[in-house]
Amino acid sequence: MFSILPAAYASVALLFTAQISSALNFTVSGGQVFTPGLVVLDAPQPGTPLGGELIEVALDVSTNGRLPLPPYPEDSPSLIHNITIFLYSYGTGRNFTITNGTASANNASLGDILFQEPGSTVKHVKWMWPDCLVGNGQPSEAGSDRGAYNISIRQSFRLNGQDHYTIFDVPISVTNSIEENSDRPSCDALNNPLLAPEEIRASADDMPAMFAPGDATTLQTASGQVLGSSAPGGWRRGGIWACTAAAIVAMVA
Ligand SMILES: *[C@@H]1O[C@H](CO)[C@@H](O)[C@H](O)[C@H]1NC(C)=O
Ligand SMILES: *[C@@H]1O[C@H](CO)[C@@H](O)[C@H](O)[C@H]1NC(C)=O
Ligand SMILES: *[C@@H]1O[C@H](CO)[C@@H](O)[C@H](O)[C@H]1NC(C)=O
Ligand SMILES: *[C@@H]1O[C@H](CO)[C@@H](O)[C@H](O)[C@H]1NC(C)=O
Ligand SMILES: *[C@@H]1O[C@H](CO)[C@@H](O)[C@H](O)[C@H]1NC(C)=O
Ligand SMILES: *[C@@H]1O[C@H](CO)[C@@H](O)[C@H](O)[C@H]1NC(C)=O
Repeated sequence: MFSILPAAYASVALLFTAQISSALNFTVSGGQVFTPGLVVLDAPQPGTPLGGELIEVALDVSTNGRLPLPPYPEDSPSLIHNITIFLYSYGTGRNFTITNGTASANNASLGDILFQEPGSTVKHVKWMWPDCLVGNGQPSEAGSDRGAYNISIRQSFRLNGQDHYTIFDVPISVTNSIEENSDRPSCDALNNPLLAPEEIRASADDMPAMFAPGDATTLQTASGQVLGSSAPGGWRRGGIWACTAAAIVAMVA
């Protein structure tokens, strides 16, 4: 499905094995996690144990200043159509909606995050943990819904005139303390069916992480500007890939 310069892409694919089948390799630089899309993940880091009142997912939706904020000009060759986020686990069988673009009652699942915090390039997606995740530490009883999860960040976007849909799964563990609170939404109201990994793979484009320092992917915006890597000499025509020297490829067990 991803068809920009397949030959050049193939060599990059060897470097970036962060497909959802083996999403254990992450491209991390300066504390940011680069994704197969226009969004850059500021937090949480892969592998973090989480808990507390809510989960906060911080996303830079400006590709670190390369892409203007929405609403985008109609003719923009690059833009984000929408972002959806789910929290799922094959271990517990749960698949909660964090945001699908349409807010549910009391923001139990969130509306379009692209338009929250107007003027800010970083969107802090705050989602109240639902009731079945209350507890402390590792899951202690059979049937517990706590434990290992993925934050599944799905981007529908246009890059240099071509539309894409990618899925980026970030493993976390829901093992820190989450206290009981009558405001917590019901898990069942937020739950969706789980699909098999093959079905999910087939539904998404297979793209590498992009826009990390040293990556030469360019981004054309409405003004006709071509914004490439910030490195000197990094101005190239759209769709050309180069090896990422500066980005660290981190592995999470
Ligand atoms: C991570 O990527 C490196 C190459 O960058 C590869 O050698 C290694 O096998 C990958 N590990 C996993 C678990 O996918
Ligand atoms: C996201 O955008 C794509 C492309 O415009 C569209 O097909 C899809 O329905 C949108 N999804 C949501 C949740 O808005
Ligand atoms: C998280 O995602 C990875 C890759 O998509 C998958 O292999 C793993 O089973 C998922 N973990 C859980 C807890 O579902
Ligand atoms: C839901 O979130 C939106 C965006 O942050 C906010 O404007 C709205 O007031 C919230 N609604 C409720 C019922 O909390
Ligand atoms: C969004 O998610 C909520 C909670 O899972 C669900 O009730 C609602 O039907 C979903 N809306 C769409 C448009 O998918
Ligand atoms: C979780 O549910 C959403 C909404 O139905 C779906 O798009 C997504 O593929 C599901 N995730 C998994 C891992 O099945």
